[in-house]
Amino acid sequence: MRRTRILGTGSYLPKKSLTNDELAKEYKLETSDAWIRERTGIGNRHIAAPDEATSDMCLHASREALARAGVKPEELDLIIVGTISPDMPFPAAACFLQAKLGAGPRSAAFDVSAACAGSLFALSIADQYIKSGAAKRVLVVGAELLTRIVDWTDRGSCVLFGDAAGAIVLGPEEREGRGILSTHLHTDGTQTGILCIPGGGSARPFDQKVLDARDMLVKMNGREVYKVAVRSLEAVSREALEVNGLTTADVDHVVAHQANLRILEAVMKRMEIPLEKCHLNIEKVGNTSSASVPLTLDQAIRGGTLKDGDLILMMAIGGGMSWGSALLRWSEG
Ligand code: UT7
Repeated sequence: MRRTRILGTGSYLPKKSLTNDELAKEYKLETSDAWIRERTGIGNRHIAAPDEATSDMCLHASREALARAGVKPEELDLIIVGTISPDMPFPAAACFLQAKLGAGPRSAAFDVSAACAGSLFALSIADQYIKSGAAKRVLVVGAELLTRIVDWTDRGSCVLFGDAAGAIVLGPEEREGRGILSTHLHTDGTQTGILCIPGGGSARPFDQKVLDARDMLVKMNGREVYKVAVRSLEAVSREALEVNGLTTADVDHVVAHQANLRILEAVMKRMEIPLEKCHLNIEKVGNTSSASVPLTLDQAIRGGTLKDGDLILMMAIGGGMSWGSALLRWSEG
């Protein structure tokens, strides 16, 4: 059976970073390092420069991933960016990225909107294209510049997010038993209200009411998101393992969207997977939304911890609510 393989990864973090204390001071927030750390595990986050757009962050991560994969931009069949903070409402951030890479019109380029699960949704689409033989070289990017669309007067949400991009180049796997074993995606569209930007779209176009209510910015019911996240991430991870005849004891590494350390601790505990198997960077980068999974994967690879044949469980959840998992048998060299 034809499978998909990761050929190379890359990531990008903007230069400017802010500790919790610096954040509180800069944005005049009534919060504390102790509160943020205790409730989320976050100690620091990166903030894009004023002249940086999402496609610029994508470009840095993509160039790194393509170089490591030994793939030229013009060899790409597809460029898929998971983001909800594109350069502009349209065209897609992927179109700007294609131009900046000089990939040329051989490739199709589009964005996937699944909030923090965006890069996992993009990975799943890439996997279907490669497995079916419809594409040979696909660039998947998760990139988010949420610090520009969060409400800096809402301490319950703005302290969580950081800017970043992560990129993965994918191609056909030649080796038996290696590569992406499966992906599983789900959405519960009855939960759109708990994490969204309610204004500025076709339902409620920009007007004074939208601006006064700050409804063009991210709104979140943290408690509800937390509950759905723990339940759904466990379920979709178990689904992935069961379909492949594997158990939680077979998992060597977890590469998860880092929304909140407490969410990951709860999911690992329920699944009886030691937390040490979960690659963590939330303390240093915060919740980087769609960038989180490819960024964490890239850091895990750079850290030299993945061995040939290791089983990697990936999971993510975001506004929609949308969530998913991917199981990957690591192929080295
Ligand atoms: O990628 C998905 C993105 N979203 C998430 O992952 C969010 C998941 N949810 C969470 O992580 C948590 O719900 C939060 C960290 C957002 C909030 O933690 P919580 O334990 O659910 O707190 P809460 O919203 O129930 O608020 C408890 C108290 C409130 O004060 P009162 O009403 O008890 O006096 C809040 O006003 O904490 C207050 N509070 C803060 N205090 C200091 C909320 N945010 C802050 C803050 N600093 N930054």
